[in-house]
Amino acid sequence: MTFPKIELHLHLEGAAPPAFIRGIAAEKGVDLSRIFNEAGAYAYGDFLEFLKVYEAATAVLSTPEDYARLIAVVTEDLTEQGAIYAETFISPDFCGGGDLAAWREYLQAMQEAAARSEAQGGVILKGIVTPIRHFGPERAKAPALCAAETAGDFIVGLGLAGDEGVGRPRDYIWAFDCAREAGLRLTCHAGEWGGPASVRAAVEDLGVERIGHGVRAIEDPALVDWLAERGTVLEVCPGSNVALGLYRDYSRHPIARLRDAGVRVTVSTDDPPFFHTTLSREYERLADAFHWGSEDFAALNRVAAEAAFCDAKTRDDLLKKLGDADV
Ligand code: HPA
Ligand code: ZN
Repeated sequence: MTFPKIELHLHLEGAAPPAFIRGIAAEKGVDLSRIFNEAGAYAYGDFLEFLKVYEAATAVLSTPEDYARLIAVVTEDLTEQGAIYAETFISPDFCGGGDLAAWREYLQAMQEAAARSEAQGGVILKGIVTPIRHFGPERAKAPALCAAETAGDFIVGLGLAGDEGVGRPRDYIWAFDCAREAGLRLTCHAGEWGGPASVRAAVEDLGVERIGHGVRAIEDPALVDWLAERGTVLEVCPGSNVALGLYRDYSRHPIARLRDAGVRVTVSTDDPPFFHTTLSREYERLADAFHWGSEDFAALNRVAAEAAFCDAKTRDDLLKKLGDADV
């Protein structure tokens, strides 16, 4: 699938290839063998184990330079997948422990690496700061402040990652208000491990315009209609949902039903090497499952361009690139 694509839901460390993490661990003399299987892939059972493995892999990335190298690898992969624009979730908790001065150093290194990709004609990358939900509402304040203080050209939004089972969206209102006041755009994971009520709560209590996943809205037809009317955009990651056992296979995934009900859906990869997927593979699987073709995919990417947290000029350029490719 070679057409231009937009990725809106990608956890930065979740995009790290196992070989990249193994390489950095070896340089630092850290034994990380427990998080890999015999084939060298990330090894975990369920979602909570996945989060533990994710955090163990992340722990070897301990300097701004490590993160600059990660951005270089991730932008190269995205460009290879045909991505013209991507937004990635970045956590100040992992980049300087929530300390603003340290975060600025990580951010500068990451932003420079992203600018190199763009200058070479590769993917345009923007960052969405994500506090970690299972670290609790109090600890969400420092990353939200980091986001607010550095809002601008590269940091364009605030999200919320981690274990959806911890707390309720309204426990994180302080962080979301802080980011909104700084002009940041808002998204939140909901409706993956939480049911339809979690999606409604994220929209009503936090005022987000996009939802990470949100697919379990399908269990409440009134909510589906409500999302369609509001134009709330879902960052759908079908391969992630299948890999983590939410749906048995792509054909049972609700993305097509949500789209057909008028909900604005987009397609992303979440943590591609963890879920054995790529952006191209997602489109291939959706083509197989739902007989979607280039017009369907072009429409999905137009929704993504419209929902991207970028400035108007970037959006116009993206829509033009998508339009030019849409023959
Ligand atoms: N979901 C929620 N939190 C996360 C993920 C994810 O896929 N990856 C890293 N943190
Ligand atoms: Zn996610």
